[in-house]
Amino acid sequence: MLTLIKNIKQIVGIDRTNRLRIQGKEMSQLETLSDAYLIVEDENIKAFGPMSELKDHTFDHEYDATGRMLFPSFCDSHTHLVYANSREHEFVDKIRGLSYEEIAKRGGGILNSAKATAATSEDELYNMAIQRLETVKSLGTGAIEIKSGYGLTTESELKLLRVIRRLKENSPLTIKSNFLGAHGIPMEYRGHQEDYVDLVINEMIPKVAAEGLADYIDVFCDQGFFTVEDTERILEAGIKYGMRPKIHANEMAVSGGVQVGVKYGAISVDHLEQMGDAEIECLKGSETMPTILPGCAFFLNLPLSPARKMIDAGLSVAMASDYNPGTAPSFNMQLVLSMACIRYRLTPEEAFNATTINTAYAMGVSDRLGSIAVGKQANFYITKPIPSYEYMPYAYGENKVETVFLKGKRV
Ligand code: NIG
Ligand code: FE
Repeated sequence: MLTLIKNIKQIVGIDRTNRLRIQGKEMSQLETLSDAYLIVEDENIKAFGPMSELKDHTFDHEYDATGRMLFPSFCDSHTHLVYANSREHEFVDKIRGLSYEEIAKRGGGILNSAKATAATSEDELYNMAIQRLETVKSLGTGAIEIKSGYGLTTESELKLLRVIRRLKENSPLTIKSNFLGAHGIPMEYRGHQEDYVDLVINEMIPKVAAEGLADYIDVFCDQGFFTVEDTERILEAGIKYGMRPKIHANEMAVSGGVQVGVKYGAISVDHLEQMGDAEIECLKGSETMPTILPGCAFFLNLPLSPARKMIDAGLSVAMASDYNPGTAPSFNMQLVLSMACIRYRLTPEEAFNATTINTAYAMGVSDRLGSIAVGKQANFYITKPIPSYEYMPYAYGENKVETVFLKGKRV
C-alpha cells in the first residue's frame, strides 16, 4: 500500500545519519525541507523530497497538505497513564500550603492512588486508559512509555501491567511498559521498608518476568522514598530477569539516583530537578539519557532542572510529560515543547529534539521512531496551517495537530 502526502509546506525533523540520540551542540540542528512530498509504503517512510522532484506514479491514497507542516510524532518516554482516580483534592491542599512530601507522609499521594487501584477492575482500568490514549494520539504523541506503580501489592502491580499489555495489543501507539513496584512505601511497611523491597525482589519481579510484562524496571530513588541501597538491590534483581533500569531520580533531593542509574546502565534517569556538577559529570560518556519532566516541576512549583547547563556540557537532554494524577495531570507534549523553550530556555530546535529523537532513545525505540528518515516507521503528524515550526512552541495551549499517521496508517 502506497500513500502520497504532497504539497507539504515543510517537513521538520529529518535525520539522514541514523543517530539514536542527539547530544550537546548538535541538539540545535533541526533539518527541514520546504515544499515537499513524502511517500509511505505499508508501515514505513519510503521516500521524501522536493515537490519538483516528485515522479508520476499511482498511489493508493493521496493527501494534500497545502499550508501544513509535517513533524515526527512526539515520543513520551515517561508516564503513569494507567490509574484509577484523579487527585484534585490534593491539588487544592497544595494550593493551601501543604507540600507534596507532606501529603505523601500522611498517606495521600501515591498511596491514595494505590487504594483506588485495588478497588478498580482490570477492565475498568483498561477502558479509562484506552480513552486517554485516544486524546494522547490526537495531540501528536505516537509512542509512549507507561509505568505500573499504583499497585504496591503483587496482585495490583500485575493487574496494572496486564492493562498495559492489553493497551500494547490494541492501541496504534507504540507502547513500552515499565515495572515500578518501588514507587511508594505502603503504610504497613513504614519503618521497615527493606521488607517491602524484599517483596518487590522475591515475589513481584519473578512474577512480572514470568508473564513477560515489563520492558523496563523503575525505582523512585529519592528522599522520603527508596534509598540508593534499596535501588541497587531492586535494579540488580530486575537486570537478572532482563529488565533494563529506567529510574526516577533527584526530584526532592540530590539523592544519588543519577549515579546509581548510570552504574546499572539505566536507559534514562528522570526528573533531575536537583542536579549538582557531580551528577552532570557522571552522565558524561554514559549511555543514560537525562530526562526532564517540565509538567511535574510546573505543577509542584519545583526548581527547574538545569537543562541549558547539561546541553552546554555536551549531554543529551530528553523531555517527557510524566503524566500522572498526582504531579503532572497533562499528557500534552505540545505543552512540554513550549515549556522546554519558555521555562528551560531551549531553542525550538533543541526542544523538538528533546521531545522526539531523545525521548525515543529513552524508551528504546529511536532506531524506528523519533525522526523523519527513509526506512523508519511512518509515525508523524500533519499540522493545521501554521506559519513556521517556531509557532509550535510559541502558541502554547492550542492544539496545532490536524492529522495523525501511526505505523503508516492515518488514524
Ligand atoms: O513521577 N515521582 C514519583 N512519581 C510520580 C508521581 C506519582 C504520584 O504522585 O502519583 C512522578 O512525579
Ligand atoms: Fe514519574
